[in-house]
Amino acid sequence: MSRADSTPTPILVVDDDGDIRAALEMLLQYEGFEVWTARDGREAVARYAREAGGGRRAAVVLSDLKMPGMDGMELLATLRAEPDPPPVIMISGHGDVSTAVEAMQNGAANFLEKPLDDNRVLVTIRKAIREQHLEEENTGLRRQLTDRWTIVGESTATSRLMRQIEQVALSEAAVLITGENGTGKEVVARNLHLLGPRAAGNFVTVNCAAIPHELIESELFGHEKGSFTGAHERRVGHFEAADRGTLFLDEIGDMPLDAQAKVLRALENHEITRVGDSRTIPVDIRVIAATNADLAEAVETKAFRRDLFYRLNVVPLHVPPLAERVEDIGPLARHFLDQIAERTGFSQRDLSGEALARLEGLDYPGNVRQLRNLLEGASVFADGPEVGLDDLEQILAAGPGAASPAAARSAAGADPFGAATFEEFKDASEAAFFRLKLDENEGNIKRTAERLGMQRSHLYKKLDRYDLRG
Ligand SMILES: Nc1ncnc2c1ncn2[C@@H]1O[C@H](COP(=O)(O)OP(=O)(O)OP(=O)(O)O)[C@@H](O)[C@H]1O
Ligand SMILES: [Mg+2]
Repeated sequence: MSRADSTPTPILVVDDDGDIRAALEMLLQYEGFEVWTARDGREAVARYAREAGGGRRAAVVLSDLKMPGMDGMELLATLRAEPDPPPVIMISGHGDVSTAVEAMQNGAANFLEKPLDDNRVLVTIRKAIREQHLEEENTGLRRQLTDRWTIVGESTATSRLMRQIEQVALSEAAVLITGENGTGKEVVARNLHLLGPRAAGNFVTVNCAAIPHELIESELFGHEKGSFTGAHERRVGHFEAADRGTLFLDEIGDMPLDAQAKVLRALENHEITRVGDSRTIPVDIRVIAATNADLAEAVETKAFRRDLFYRLNVVPLHVPPLAERVEDIGPLARHFLDQIAERTGFSQRDLSGEALARLEGLDYPGNVRQLRNLLEGASVFADGPEVGLDDLEQILAAGPGAASPAAARSAAGADPFGAATFEEFKDASEAAFFRLKLDENEGNIKRTAERLGMQRSHLYKKLDRYDLRG
């Protein structure tokens, strides 16, 4: 608990027995808490509400079970109906332990038995406060995460997709997400996780295209120390890391056939075996896969196992190309401009009507990602409150999409200071930076990512972008 502000933490003590009230008050005040007291449930509710109205909330409510008038159970029910209920610790007398247990089932944080032991009282209160903080932190973090992955769009196709996601998130069914590059497959996968019962668990992404074939088994299932040359330490694989959470198998179409067999076995048996070990370890995961390839066709050409395809494709979700949902372009563009403003600290920019019309008329082989890159580029040129047609034209003139992969690739060998536009400069210097770092680490991508403090998947994207992968 933070002691940064000097206002003491308030605790509401509710008991009809004046001696107990006085004893608790003395103990808690001595420990630096502020103590509010009440003689029964009704008084407690009134006090709680009055203080909350003044902006102060009881950190914990310590309440007797048996009281005349409104008893502890009723008080608990009333407080639980509040928007952010405080933790309630029940005090039970002789013979009403079973009622205390019932109170726990109704949401009490804990219970204490009479006669009260000072030490237990303090330990129980501190534990309740700590848990409450953790819970608040978790909801806060979850909210932030959810914002980060908000699905933006107003087209019929996107609304329909959102409805499907909400339904499918609640089930444990395997989902196969298909769609072109940059359509938002990862965003969909994140939403399935965050809106489902496993939201508090891990979301683990495996980029199947990025793992070298000989390492895929160890990456997925982990390995024991010394199980192969280079296995200096024991390593937990992605399946284990996703236990009780979601495993996202991205670019599943690129998974080698022998790995496919092992993945299928792990999914069917709900257990894995680490490389170099004989024990099986149970794993409880939900699997979501994504691909921009036609997996059904890959099954026909025997590049993808039919049994694994069926196992993954229980619920197919298709993310349509951006060109098929032009109505999304406006909302997406404004969303990206907001994000850019937030990141750069510049004030928010609007999009002029002309610029929007131009955006709506473009082709998007790179889909939403291409739109985002375009706006990144255009906002570099914009100096007013609006991103206008001129700013957009400048970035469009810099090439068939200056931020397109092709332009980026040509930037890979270029001298940054020979660049004509800021975009070209950024690309050329980024490419040079990654080439240097990769060389410093003898081409070892994992180590490079670690030293740069980057997600490996992110580094892979950069390397792909500049065609720097050997
Ligand atoms: N509906 C959406 N709302 C908000 N942002 C989106 C949406 N769709 C995509 N994006 C953004 O566009 C970018 C590309 O999305 P994402 O990475 O999910 O695509 P993808 O289909 O996984 O692409 P790839 O096939 O290249 O891996 C990301 O920055 C993502 O946040
Ligand atoms: Mg992706």
